[in-house]
Amino acid sequence: MSVLSGKNVLLGVSAGIAAYKTAGLVRLFIKAGANVQVVMTPASKDFVTPLTLSTLSQKPVYSTFYDKKDDSGLWNSHVGLALQADLMLIAPATANTMAKMADGNVDNLLLATYLSAKSKVYFAPAMDLDMYQHPTTKKNIEKLQGYGNIFIPPDSGFLASGLTGEGRMAEPEDIITFIENDMAQNLPLKGKKVMITAGPTYEAIDPVRFIGNHSSGKMGFALAEHAADLGAEVVLIAGPSNEKISSSLVNRIDVVSAEQMYNVVHQHVKDMDVALFAAAVADYSPKNVAVQKIKKKDAPLHIDIKPTKDILASVGKIKKDQFLVGFALETNDELQNAKGKLKRKNLDLIVLNSLQDKGAGFKVDTNKITLIDKDENITTFDVKAKKEVASDIFKEIIKKLNV
Ligand code: CTP
Repeated sequence: MSVLSGKNVLLGVSAGIAAYKTAGLVRLFIKAGANVQVVMTPASKDFVTPLTLSTLSQKPVYSTFYDKKDDSGLWNSHVGLALQADLMLIAPATANTMAKMADGNVDNLLLATYLSAKSKVYFAPAMDLDMYQHPTTKKNIEKLQGYGNIFIPPDSGFLASGLTGEGRMAEPEDIITFIENDMAQNLPLKGKKVMITAGPTYEAIDPVRFIGNHSSGKMGFALAEHAADLGAEVVLIAGPSNEKISSSLVNRIDVVSAEQMYNVVHQHVKDMDVALFAAAVADYSPKNVAVQKIKKKDAPLHIDIKPTKDILASVGKIKKDQFLVGFALETNDELQNAKGKLKRKNLDLIVLNSLQDKGAGFKVDTNKITLIDKDENITTFDVKAKKEVASDIFKEIIKKLNV
């Protein structure tokens, strides 16, 4: 999945012939899963139509502070547009627009939006060779970089004027790759290794039957996907689950039993920076697995079961620098039980779910959690989609890791 997925992109288009390429740019952002809001300078509409860009972005395109033709008095708030953005890209950035940006001039909506932007701003210049080489342009680019804006260098090649040289706007594919790489560099878990256990375990009774539980794996899979989105290299150790993972940064290892999960966890945990144990591991497994299917009889059937190894507690005993996160699903005395597990298993953080809470627990897409850290600081959260819960948990981990 692209780092741009789900991101709100504000695309500022200024008046250069390269503006025609923004149609392709919008399509590529949408393909990467981003939402695109286009803001144009009035003059850029001579090069590409708002209709083209609004159709491709599936949103109205803004180019003025208000619509002079209708008397609705609706104000296109530059502050509102800027606040919604996760990133702003100005492409093409003409010599004129860059000069105004460098000077803090706000004589159109695009410039006012730029000046209000709190997000990262990328700019991709496009102009003719001589204009690009002029010291004023060079100085403006440096000035803009000095303000923290990110420069996407133009290509060299055939220019609309007929000249050949530097100044051609970078190709849309290259702009997208540039931004993706830049964003990936700055992800908070870049370079970190994260392990997650998920789903139930099945403890075989005979070749067709097992002891299991209702865990779907949804929470663990949401955590794995989110860790990858934050730049981590992820090992997901999953019991039987119908959930799917789309990120190529997640190495999914399927296991069935608690014993298998224990072995795979111990193969990987030494290399990890963070390990989260979201699996609902069976606490007991049959002492002996029948080789043949057990035949039905009238008499009661007794199966001897033995405790499984507590995987999390075993990691807690050998942990060095790993940040360990456990889960506690409780029905009563929730805080007390969760605090007990935190201490007993030597954890850094525990995620408490109470089955008393509506919207928490197995098979549902939502969860309601309470986080308890080593110093017993308690943070409670509302019922949220498991994806958002994953984000809350990682926000806390990132805060604690100080990255
Ligand atoms: N866990 C584990 N291996 C086990 C059992 C549990 O790794 N064999 C992990 C779970 O993934 C979870 C945490 O330990 O992160 C808490 O599990 P839980 O079953 O609630 O804890 P128990 O100590 O088994 O307590 P309880 O008596 O409530 O079952």
